[in-house]
Amino acid sequence: MTEATPAQPELDRDPAIGRVVLTEEQLARRIAELGEQLTADYAGRPPLLVCVLRGAYVFLTDLARHIDLPVEIDFIAVSSYGATTRTSGVVRLVKDLDVDLTGRDVVLVEDIVDTGLTLRYLRRSLEARNPASLEVCALLARESADLESLGVRYVGFTVPGDFVIGYGLDVAERYRNLRYLAVYEPQDGDPAI
Ligand code: IMP
Ligand code: MG
Repeated sequence: MTEATPAQPELDRDPAIGRVVLTEEQLARRIAELGEQLTADYAGRPPLLVCVLRGAYVFLTDLARHIDLPVEIDFIAVSSYGATTRTSGVVRLVKDLDVDLTGRDVVLVEDIVDTGLTLRYLRRSLEARNPASLEVCALLARESADLESLGVRYVGFTVPGDFVIGYGLDVAERYRNLRYLAVYEPQDGDPAI
């Protein structure tokens, strides 16, 4: 009998990578569904996908390839966490868009909606540029997040409070390249807690 070879054997040995929250297969299946939903909802008015760097970059690449419309893509970067697992409470624009949003149908693509601070900041900033419409598509949302008041139309999965890593999400810039989503287990002497 042949055993499945782990795709990332070195990473798999890292004790900071805890319980698997979402497997590659679960992520792929749900993202395909989101892509189909966006394809139907935006038929005849292909949206501009705005990827919130850096956490959403993996989600964006998979999602965009499941949308059967001539979408455009641009990137915006904000920072609220620094190198820790706690929000600093201040959102900073690190990189702005290149594209003009006037009259565009915009879909903001986010990795995770936690307190909603980042999203409120981005919404205010993007709405001021007069897009025809602005919707949010987040891969993950905390169970505690008030998605209605934040105006989040598309969500992949809701997750509990654990800090999660992988599939684009980081701790101090690490673990973004994990193929799945896992709980982060801080180790002794870890500076990121
Ligand atoms: P919010 O402003 O509190 O909603 O936080 C949103 C941002 O914080 C996300 O875009 C992520 O970059 C980051 N974040 C929040 N929770 C996690 C997590 O569990 N893992 C990795 N990043 C997270
Ligand atoms: Mg982050």
